[in-house]
Amino acid sequence: PIVPVILSGGSGTRLWPMSRPERPKQMLALTAEETMLQLTATRAIGERFAAPIVVANARHADMIDAQLGAVEASAAAIILEPAGRNTAPAIALAAIAAGGGAEPLLIMPSDHVIADVPAFHAAIHAAMPMVADGWLVTFGIAPDAPETGYGYIQVGDEIAPGVNRVRAFVEKPPLEKAQAMLAAGDHAWNGGIFLFRADTYLAALAAFAPDMLAACQKAMDGARREDRRIFPDADAFAASPSDSIDYAVMEKADRVAVVPVSMGWSDLGSWDALYALDADDKGDAHRGDIVAIDTANCLVRSDGVRIAMLGVEDLIVVASGNDVLILPRGRSQEVKRLLEAMKDG
Ligand code: GDD
Ligand code: MG
Repeated sequence: PIVPVILSGGSGTRLWPMSRPERPKQMLALTAEETMLQLTATRAIGERFAAPIVVANARHADMIDAQLGAVEASAAAIILEPAGRNTAPAIALAAIAAGGGAEPLLIMPSDHVIADVPAFHAAIHAAMPMVADGWLVTFGIAPDAPETGYGYIQVGDEIAPGVNRVRAFVEKPPLEKAQAMLAAGDHAWNGGIFLFRADTYLAALAAFAPDMLAACQKAMDGARREDRRIFPDADAFAASPSDSIDYAVMEKADRVAVVPVSMGWSDLGSWDALYALDADDKGDAHRGDIVAIDTANCLVRSDGVRIAMLGVEDLIVVASGNDVLILPRGRSQEVKRLLEAMKDG
């Protein structure tokens, strides 16, 4: 079976004030009753899938256990990183924990939306022959804007039904390059979801990041285990270089394939992205105790206090704990400026 690997290391600062270090984006219910983590885990349940391996920050262990248990998707193992070293080492720990052999690993960020799960499963199915053959497979999303926060994949020839060779992989291009790739029409966004055999990935690390592989192997050899929880050796893991799978492996590797798929994907990277997903026919996206008269096209969220609004348009208003965020729609990428300002003050 396929081993789902759920990456839950991000802090999701752009969704402040709901997302906070002690309860980041993936542990929030933003689009449904279930949290992003729960939705991620339940996307990979069934006879083709083993129980997931979760790689996360040590402080979130109890919350992850509780959330996965609540949707009957308990992890086979939770690997708790003493400190984040980005995605390439996190995936290495999981590949080693899975046994390091031919088992396919489905790497999933814990904080993305996939509206069309059957389409996702069909894409996984299409990828499997190439995965078995030792390819690194990614999933390609049709781009609709020159985003600079994504990886871009130049889609090459079809090498199996529904699977194309990757001609080039360009992680986080500058705006001009992103615009050129969008105009060229032969590029997809990297969805941040990967499928490959554990041994394929470890061999790629051996070739392109041997120091990282050695540090991760040492961290797992010296790991402490408590039931399903795995605590890699902190000193060994700290010695690993910090890098993403995209820069450390995908940009460099040769046998890389992409499955183009349309599955209602969003990485929900901002309040504006959530508005785009959640707005109803009338342009409202309200959740919580909200009273709104004569308002239009606002995202309004509260997990406690009541919010009452009248006669305003195109606002983002989010209340959580003691904090209230107010922005015009279209500027939610700038939340990080507020976080900086509050840090200084
Ligand atoms: N366990 C663990 N440890 N997880 C991590 C760590 C870490 O140190 N760092 C990041 N993650 C998790 C995040 O929680 C997220 O779910 C996922 O790995 C991807 O990390 P991001 O930091 O969100 O990556 P990105 O958004 O900058 O870029 C990636 O995703 C884009 C799509 O959303 C790349 O793969 C891009 O190419 C891609 O387009
Ligand atoms: Mg991301």
